Amino acid sequence: MLRRPRRNRKSPVIRGMIEETRLSTKDFMQPLFLLEGKNKKVEVDSMPGIYRLSLDHMKREIEECMNLGVKAFDVFPVVDAKYKDKEASQSYEPDFFYLKALEEIKNEFPEACIMTDVAMDPYSTDGHDGVVDEDGEILNDESLEILGSMALAQAETGIDIIGPSDMMDGRVEYIRDLLDDNGFEHTSIMAYTAKYASAFYGPFRDALDSAPKSGDKKTYQMDPANLREAMIEAELDEEEGADFLMVKPALAYLDVIKLLRDNFDLPIAAYNVSGEYSMLKAAAQKGWIDGDQAMMESLLSMKRAGAKIILTYFAKEAASLMNK
Ligand code: PBG
Repeated sequence: MLRRPRRNRKSPVIRGMIEETRLSTKDFMQPLFLLEGKNKKVEVDSMPGIYRLSLDHMKREIEECMNLGVKAFDVFPVVDAKYKDKEASQSYEPDFFYLKALEEIKNEFPEACIMTDVAMDPYSTDGHDGVVDEDGEILNDESLEILGSMALAQAETGIDIIGPSDMMDGRVEYIRDLLDDNGFEHTSIMAYTAKYASAFYGPFRDALDSAPKSGDKKTYQMDPANLREAMIEAELDEEEGADFLMVKPALAYLDVIKLLRDNFDLPIAAYNVSGEYSMLKAAAQKGWIDGDQAMMESLLSMKRAGAKIILTYFAKEAASLMNK
């Protein structure tokens, strides 16, 4: 035999030298769930090991992550039902707890990269990402104004990246213009570019109590059957001024990550969503798979497919393992 591929696998050193993809803690962004108040730490039932944290606990969590090399965070507020309305008006109320908390986080950890989510669902009685009319329709252009106010209020706290996850048409340009007009030309936008109408968001909606009250999100989030359509979304987000293109979920959409990686020069992010986390955790808890290995293997697959940035609930856990 002239060719024996096994020769290149014969020792850890050789395997290390030919390793094509290597994860770094610099690739990771850790999503965090913020609770109003003090001294609160409540586990998400469907996401073992993931907690909703009040600001004091969150600051400790951020510090621990930073020490492990994870320095980017996506902060999602848990909004009590009493604050929700049809217009998601608390989302841009400057005194609302999450905006105050973001300001404090940025002051305390200026070197951390903080991202925020722009979509109406956590603040809305309808649980949809945009405005819902009497017929249950999700209004696009009417939503832009609210999403814009939300993005601006978040930028005013000093955070680094705005993450529009709402999938309304034209929102990246709308937000970019508004930020620029108000002196926030250095605030970045990570567009949720190819965001699919996925069952894998279930545990996240448990965490925030943000599930739609009626209907589904199929008139704005993408059909899991479609790959080519991701190109249209990516072209628009690039033209409209996005700094990063994100694919979400990650594991069931590695082909979409690869497609965008091959066709665009903007950095590609993958969102390893809640249901993907829960699936692995559940199987590991039952002893059906090796949790650590399955975690690292799936994160690696996202990077191999072409994602440079990985938003993952595993960030801290993976970083601890990588630091060993
Ligand atoms: C808000 C939003 C969602 C997620 C991130 N931002 C839920 C949704 O669109 O229904 C999901 C994240 C996850 O499942 O980890 N629009």
